[in-house]
Amino acid sequence: MKRLTAIIALAAAAAACSSPKTGDVPVYLDPARSVEERVADALPRLTTEEKVALTHAQSKFSSRGVPRLGIPEVWCTDGPHGIRPEVLWDEWDQAGWTNDSCTAFPALSCLAATWDRDMALLFGRSIGQEARYRKKDILLGPGVNICRTPLNGRNFEYMGEDPFLAGQMVVPYVTGVQENGVAACVKHFAVNNQEVRRTATSSNLDDRTLYEIYLPAFEAAVRKGGAWAIMGSYNLYNGQFNCHNKRLLLDILKGEWGFDGVVVSDWGGCRDDDEAIVNGLDMEFGTWTNGLTGAASDGYGNYHLANPYLQRLADGRATTKELDDKATRVLRTIFRTSMASEPHFGSFNSPEHYAAARKIAAAGTVLLQNNGVLPLRVPDGGKLVVIGENAVKKMVVGGGSSSLKTNYEIAPLEALQEAFPGANVVWERGYVGDTSTSYNKVDTGQDLSESRSASQLLADALKAVEGADAVVFIGGLNKSEGQDNEGTDRSDTILPYGQGEVIEAIAAAVPSLVVVNISGSPVSMPWAPKVGAIVQGWYGGSETGHALADVLTGAVNPSGKLPFTLPAALSDGPLKTERQYPGIREEGKEWWQEYYDEGVFVGYRWYDTKGIPVCFPFGHGLSYTTFEYAAEKLSKAAAACSGSYPVASDALDKVVASVSLSVKNTGSVDGAEVVQLYVAPPAGGVERPAKELRGFEKVFVEAGKAASVSIDVPVRAFTRFDEASHSWVVDPGEWKVLVGSSSADIRWEGTINVK
Ligand code: BGC
Repeated sequence: MKRLTAIIALAAAAAACSSPKTGDVPVYLDPARSVEERVADALPRLTTEEKVALTHAQSKFSSRGVPRLGIPEVWCTDGPHGIRPEVLWDEWDQAGWTNDSCTAFPALSCLAATWDRDMALLFGRSIGQEARYRKKDILLGPGVNICRTPLNGRNFEYMGEDPFLAGQMVVPYVTGVQENGVAACVKHFAVNNQEVRRTATSSNLDDRTLYEIYLPAFEAAVRKGGAWAIMGSYNLYNGQFNCHNKRLLLDILKGEWGFDGVVVSDWGGCRDDDEAIVNGLDMEFGTWTNGLTGAASDGYGNYHLANPYLQRLADGRATTKELDDKATRVLRTIFRTSMASEPHFGSFNSPEHYAAARKIAAAGTVLLQNNGVLPLRVPDGGKLVVIGENAVKKMVVGGGSSSLKTNYEIAPLEALQEAFPGANVVWERGYVGDTSTSYNKVDTGQDLSESRSASQLLADALKAVEGADAVVFIGGLNKSEGQDNEGTDRSDTILPYGQGEVIEAIAAAVPSLVVVNISGSPVSMPWAPKVGAIVQGWYGGSETGHALADVLTGAVNPSGKLPFTLPAALSDGPLKTERQYPGIREEGKEWWQEYYDEGVFVGYRWYDTKGIPVCFPFGHGLSYTTFEYAAEKLSKAAAACSGSYPVASDALDKVVASVSLSVKNTGSVDGAEVVQLYVAPPAGGVERPAKELRGFEKVFVEAGKAASVSIDVPVRAFTRFDEASHSWVVDPGEWKVLVGSSSADIRWEGTINVK
C-alpha cells in the first residue's frame, strides 16, 4: 500500500512538471495555434544540428524529427496506388511485417480514365486513410508526368497525355489525401518522361512547351490542390539536376506558384552538395545508405544535406538563411501531418476501401469497340473460354516502387468464374509472358511456370475455343522489365510475347472474340478490325478481376475514356529522332541530351494536327447505351472575352463563355457519359494544336432520360504561353468551341470571336 502511495505521489509530481498550467504549453505544442504560429515558435528552439537533421534521411523512408522537443520523425511511403509494405531500415526488402498488407487501388492511368473528379477524391481519401493508419506523413504520389511517349515504363503511374485532364484529376486526389493529415507528394517534378537513363539525361525544351504541357498538372496540384509536398525527379532539366534545379524549384515552384510545402528529393536524386543547399531542395532521401553509391558506416551522415552541409555552415560557405527556410518547411509539414491540430487515425483494409478500389477500377475500364458481343451472354451450362496470361497473373506485385503487398487480389479468371457460376469457364494460357511473381521479397505465391512451346500453347487455345458460347482473350502488358515498369521503357507499342498473332489466330476461328488489353500505357492494336470487341483494362489493384467482370457482364455499364491516344504504330508518333528520344551524347556535355523538338505537339495534339489516323483516339470510350447531344447553347460573355493581350494571371480563370447542353440516354440501360469540350484556334499566327481539351463533365443519365450539362470556358482556354513576355497570351480571332464524346467524335461546334 505504501509503495502504491509513493508511486501515485511520484506520478502527481511528474504530472505537475510536465503538464503546465494553461498558458504554459509551448506554442509549438499547442494544437489551438495555427501552423504558422507553431512553426515560428519551434524554429528558434532548434540547434543548427537539429535543423540539419530535419533535412535528410535517417533510414530508407524516414527523417529524424527533433526528439529533444518531442517533434516526431517524418515517415514517407510509396505511393501512389497503395501503402507500400514496411521495408528494412536500410534496405528495400520488405521487413516481413504481418500487418502491412494494404488495399491495392487501381493504377493512376485507370483513375485518369474515369474522367471523374469524384473518383479522384474517393481514391485520395481512401489511400490517405490507409497512409494515416500506417502512421505515414508523406505519401509519395500522385504522379502527373505527361505521357510523351507510349514507351515510358512509368506511364501506368501517371494520368495520361493531357495536362488539363491530369490537372483536373490530381486536385481532388491531393485534397482527399491531405484531409487525413497526410501530405501528398506530387511527383516527379518535372519533365521526367522516360525511364531509360532516367538519372543521366537532360530534358531540354522551350518555355512554351514547358508551361503548356509539362507544368500545368503540377501547378494545379500546388495552386488549386494545395499540395504539401513535391518530389524532384531524377533527370536534369536544361542541364541541371531536378532535385536541385534552380529554375524549377526556386523560380517556378516556390517563386511563381508560391509553394510553401516541402521539396523532397527522389531517392538518390540529390547529386550535389552546394546546389542541394541553395536551389530549393528541403529533404534528401537516398537510394543507398550513404545516399550516393553504397553502404557506409554513418551512412546517413554522408548525405549531401548532412555532414557536408554542417561543414559548409561551420566554415561560412553556407548561411542559415536557406537552412531556416528548409527547417521551416519541414516543421510546417510536421504540424500539418503527425502533429496536426485535429487528430486523424485513418483506417486500413476496410470494406469501404475495397469497394472504392472496385468502383474506380470499373469506372476507368474503357470499352473501345463492340460489335454487339458485349455484355457477355453465357447460358447456364454454356462454355466460356478465357485465354491469356493476364487472366490469371496477379499484378499488384511488380513494377518498381509502386509494388504493393495486398491482403487480397482477385484475377479476372476467378472473377468470371464467380460471375458465371452455372457455366463451364475454361482457361487456356495462349502465350507465355512473364513468369516472375515477386518483388523485394513480396511474392504472389503463384506458380506461372510453363513447359509447352508457343505453337503448342496456340494449338491448345484453338482447341479450347471449339464449341464455345463466348471467348475472351485477356492479355496486354505486365509489370516486368521492359513493360510497365520503373527503370525501363518498352521498345514498341505492339503487344509483346507474340500476342498479336495469337489474337489473330483465335479471331480467325471466332470472329466474335472479345479482347481485353490490360496495360498502363498505350498499345497499338493492328488486329482491331478482326475482333468483336475490345476493352482497355488496367492494373486494377486488389479488385481488378471483379471490376473487369463487372464491365464484361454488364453489371457496370462502361464509362471510361482513354486518357491517351492508342496509336496505329509507334512510328506515327511525334518522337522521330534519337535527339528527341531516348537522347544523344554531345561533345563537352557530361550527360545525355534530349530535345523536345516536337514542342507542344504531344499525344492527340500531334495526331490531330498532322491528320495522322490512330487506332483509338484520346477521350474515346463507348457504353452499352448510346447518348444523343441536344439543344446545345453557347452563352458568351463577349465583353469579358474581348480580352487583353497578354492576360493578367489573376484573370486566367475568369469564365468568358459557357456551353449548356442536354445529353439524352437513347438506349435501354442507365449509363454515364463524359462530355468533352475542346477549343480550336483561329487560322494563322503561331502554330497551335488543332484542338485542345479545356473542359469536361461526366454525367450519369438513366435510360430514356436526359440530363443537362454545362461547361464553363475560362479565359485560360484561349491562351498560349509566350516565351518573350513570359506570360499567357490570347490570340484574337474566331475560335471554335467543340463539344463531343471524344477528341475525334465532335458532336457540336460553336464559335467565339476573341477580339
Ligand atoms: C522512385 C520514386 C519513389 C522512390 C521511393 C524512386 O526510385 O522514382 O517514385 O517514390 O523511389 O521508393
